[in-house]
Parts: sequence; structure tokens; C-alpha cells
Amino acid sequence: MSAAKAYEGAQAYLPVRGGIAALRRAAAGCHGCPLYADATQTVFGTGPVPARALLVGEQPGDQEDRSGEPFVGPAGGLLRRALAAAGVDDRDVYLTNAVKHFKFAPVAEGRRRRIHKAPDLRELAACRPWLAAELRRVDPELVVALGATAGKSVLGNAFKVSESRGALLSLPPDEDLPFTAGEERPGGRRFLATVHPSAVLRARDRDEAFDGLVSDLRVAARFLG
Ligand code: URA
Ligand code: SF4
Repeated sequence: MSAAKAYEGAQAYLPVRGGIAALRRAAAGCHGCPLYADATQTVFGTGPVPARALLVGEQPGDQEDRSGEPFVGPAGGLLRRALAAAGVDDRDVYLTNAVKHFKFAPVAEGRRRRIHKAPDLRELAACRPWLAAELRRVDPELVVALGATAGKSVLGNAFKVSESRGALLSLPPDEDLPFTAGEERPGGRRFLATVHPSAVLRARDRDEAFDGLVSDLRVAARFLG
């Protein structure tokens, strides 16, 4: 299928007014792309609103799909340990994902655990309106992208983690995602990219990968003071 063939997207499901609770309720019924069909439920963001920092992951995993809450599985556990090690206070952080439904490979016979599949660019674009709406409600000083999918959701498809991880960037003033990178917004929101916690879990040298994540998150800790 050509990349131009777009899914309907989440936009049609966005409530006209209301806060984060109204958004969350509306997202529960989203059919903006095909991912809702095989997943258990929408996994929306969680945390204080407003919050000083908004952290964006990729998409819910197996355990998040079952529980309905983001970052409750192994990657979430590692992320919490990394935030604590870096000195980022949990209470400052709203946690969400670029894509709100779990995407997984067909379950092989005799296997219980479902294997995660990365969302493609059309699914990312379809789901982006939820992230944009969360960003407006949460109104963070700092947006942290965990991995390439999150970075592409915020800054567009050309984004590469390896090129910008650990650097405190400024986001332009327009509120519609993806932002056009490079325009400074004095006094505006900041942006920081780092690796996804699942990449740390898969790394050959896990300790080194964990230290890298913590070192990037220290940039967030310093900014948040
Ligand atoms: N990985 C993510 O990106 N998000 C989650 O919620 C869980 C795992
Ligand atoms: Fe809607 Fe996003 Fe779920 Fe697709 S992944 S159905 S756009 S909430």
C-alpha cells in the first residue's frame, strides 16, 4: 500500500472541548486506524495535568494492553529506575505514548505472550492528534521523546535519535504536531530525546545502555531543577 493512503486518523474522534478526562474518554472509542481491532483497549497517558515534563514512548506493550495503563511492564520498570537514578521526580512527569493501541504479530500456536511490532508511519500519523491534544492540556516545559518513534511523532519522520540524544532543544511555537524543528522559541517548550527503555533491555551491554539513558535524563533533571 502506498504511504499516501492515509487512515482516517484520530482527529475525527477528538472532543471539541473538555480537559484530559474528556480526551481519555474519547480516545477509548477511537477507530482512527486499524490497530484498535486486535488490541484490548486504548492505553492513554497518565500523570499530573499540567505537568512540568511530558514523556513520550512508542506504544503500549503486552502488559499495558491488558491493564490499560502505560509503562507498567518491564520497559516501564526500567524507565522508573532510570528516572530515579537521574533525579527526575515522578510527580513532575506525565507519561504517554506516540500510539495508543498495542500492535503485535500474530500469536503463534502454543504461545501466550504476544510479540510487539513497531507502529508504521501511517499509524503514527493517525494517532498523532491524541498526542497533540495531550500536549496542549498538559502544557509541559519539557517534552522527552523515548526512542525514534516518539521523536518522529514530535519532530517528523526525519528525526533520528542518534543525532540529537541528550541535547536540550527548543520547540517552535506552533501547537500542531509534528513541529518543524530548528525554529527557536525563546522561553518556550524544550525538547530532549533519548533511547527507548526497551532498547536498553535488548542491548548487549545493558549496564552501559542504562547509564546512557540515565545520563540523557540528567539533562532533564538539570533543566527541571
Ligand atoms: N513501551 C512503551 O513505549 N510504552 C509503554 O507504555 C510500554 C512500553
Ligand atoms: Fe486511534 Fe491511535 Fe488506536 Fe489508531 S492507535 S485506533 S489512531 S487511538
